[in-house]
Formats: sequence, structure tokens, C-alpha cells
Amino acid sequence: MARSMKGRSLISSADFSAEEYQMMFEMTADLKRRVKMGEGHTQILRGRTLAMIFEKPSARTRVSFEVGMAQLGGHALYLSPNDIGMGKRESTADIARVFGRMCDGIMARVFEHEKVVELAKYAGVPVINGLSNDEHPCQSLADLYTIHEQRGDLRGLHLVFVGDGNNVAASLLLTCATLGVNMTVIHPNGYDVEIKKVEAQARQLAEGSKATLNFTTEPDAVRGADVIYTDVWASMGQEAEAEARAKLFAPYQVNSELVSKADRNVLVMHCLPAHRGSEITDEVMDGPHSVVFAQAENRLHAQKSLLALFIANGQ
Ligand code: CP
Ligand code: NVA
Repeated sequence: MARSMKGRSLISSADFSAEEYQMMFEMTADLKRRVKMGEGHTQILRGRTLAMIFEKPSARTRVSFEVGMAQLGGHALYLSPNDIGMGKRESTADIARVFGRMCDGIMARVFEHEKVVELAKYAGVPVINGLSNDEHPCQSLADLYTIHEQRGDLRGLHLVFVGDGNNVAASLLLTCATLGVNMTVIHPNGYDVEIKKVEAQARQLAEGSKATLNFTTEPDAVRGADVIYTDVWASMGQEAEAEARAKLFAPYQVNSELVSKADRNVLVMHCLPAHRGSEITDEVMDGPHSVVFAQAENRLHAQKSLLALFIANGQ
């Protein structure tokens, strides 16, 4: 195996090189195979604790990290939005210093991205971004692994994200740019806030990988897509905008008509939770192109690779 990743953190999807993503994918495949063979339980994280700080709700992230820690022989500690008041009851830096002395790793789901950056700066133990307003790097790791699992070589594939240029789109953009996957973001005019923040960095990464990156407001740009990806139109924290957004985003729904314009073997992806009937129809989500539940399952296997490599040195 290549150089050790012990002690590393994952704050942004740009934190890993193409080689490191490859290492993650190999370890993910190995851990998944062991689970499928009924040998998924190990003791490599015996006696280790992961603190999980949630400022926002979660199903997949909480369950995958908690189950992942249990399968690796360790323990995960769930801290709800009301438990610690990070940045309110005490500073984020002080929480980091305290948890770093008691725990072996921290996973945090936060509003301001700066909070996960600060946790990593002061904790002295690995910190994993379990979603911030700006990015969702665990999601894009599991997503690109899922595409690799379905299609093999990733280079030159074309992923088209349709909807809000949000945290999930931003992480996908950075991961695709690193791995040589061409990416188009189709979004309503002005709904590209998070992708704009990472665009320059993504373009720089794409120079190295030869990926092409495009941004458009035209839904027809799904033509030829190998992957169509969508997410909710209003993210956590934007609930007040949901009604207004629903009208604006209606032409961007991933439905059978839109899917029929893409490659005939197109994969349809959604990070979930989905608002069926809004950004994606039942017909597409439950249809033959959809890999959304494989994608959700792979959160578990991919994050176990992070925990194994960052905390236990992958042994
Ligand atoms: N995709 C994802 O992160 O799901 P949760 O919000 O349920 O964790
Ligand atoms: N963009 C969504 C992703 C949820 C996993 C949100 O931030 O709410």
C-alpha cells in the first residue's frame, strides 16, 4: 500500500489526490467484500471512539458512521444539535481541544464550513466533514466509488448534475476534477452559490486530470450523460426558500423525459434524502437506471475506509 494516511482529516473533497482516492476505492472494495462474505466485523478500532457532532439532522451519515465504527470494533458517540452548543456554549476551538484529548476522531455536520476547518486545526486527531454548507466530501467519495463499481475506469466519463449548485455539487465538482471525470452542472440562473466558491480550485485540478467542467442553465445539456445526479432543491437551512425555489426549479426535474436524452445506459444518482415528485420522479428513482440505494450503502463501506486509514493505519 502507498504511504500512510494515519492522522489525516477529510474537510474538503480537494484534500485527496487521485492516488489517494484510488487507495480509498481499493480499501472500500475490500471492506465491502468482507461484509458480503459475512466477515465484516473486525477489531482494528477496538477501544477507539469517534465523536459525531450534528448541528443538522441526518439518517445516512449518522447510521453509516455508527455502524461503521461498530463493525471495526470501535465506538461512536452521537451528539445532537442540543447537546454541546459548539460555538455557542463554548468555542469550536475549545470543543476541538477537549474532544481531541478524549476521542480518537471527530466527525462533524455543521452549517458554517469554517467550523470543521477549525475543529481540524485544534483537535490533534482526524476530523471528517460529515456535510457543511459548502461541501459534502464523504458523499462524493462514496458516489465516485459507486460509479467506479458500476462502470470501471472513471476517466472520461461525463457526470451531469441537475439542480441547485449546492454543497453536494461542489464536492462532486472537486472530486470529478481530481479524477478526470468530465462534469456539467445544470442549474437555474443564480443557483450556483457553492459551486462558484470552488470553481477556480476545480479548474486548477482539472488541468492536471484533463477533466472538462461546464456550467449551464439549459436542461438539454444532459445529452450524452453517463451519470445524471440530482439533489434537493432547498438544502437544510434553506427551508424558508423551498416554495419559491420549487417554481423556479420545476424545469430541472429529473424525470423519464430528461433521462431519455442521456446515454441509454445512464446511471441516475441522488445523495438522498429525496423529495420524490420534486427534483426526481418515482418512476426514475425506482427505475432501471437508478443506483441511489447502492450509493447510500456505499457510504458505509467508503467511510469505513476513511476510519481505517485515518485512525488505524489501514491494518
Ligand atoms: N446523504 C446524506 O448525507 O444523508 P443524511 O443527510 O441522511 O445523512
Ligand atoms: N444538499 C443537501 C444534502 C443532504 C445530504 C443538504 O445540504 O441539505
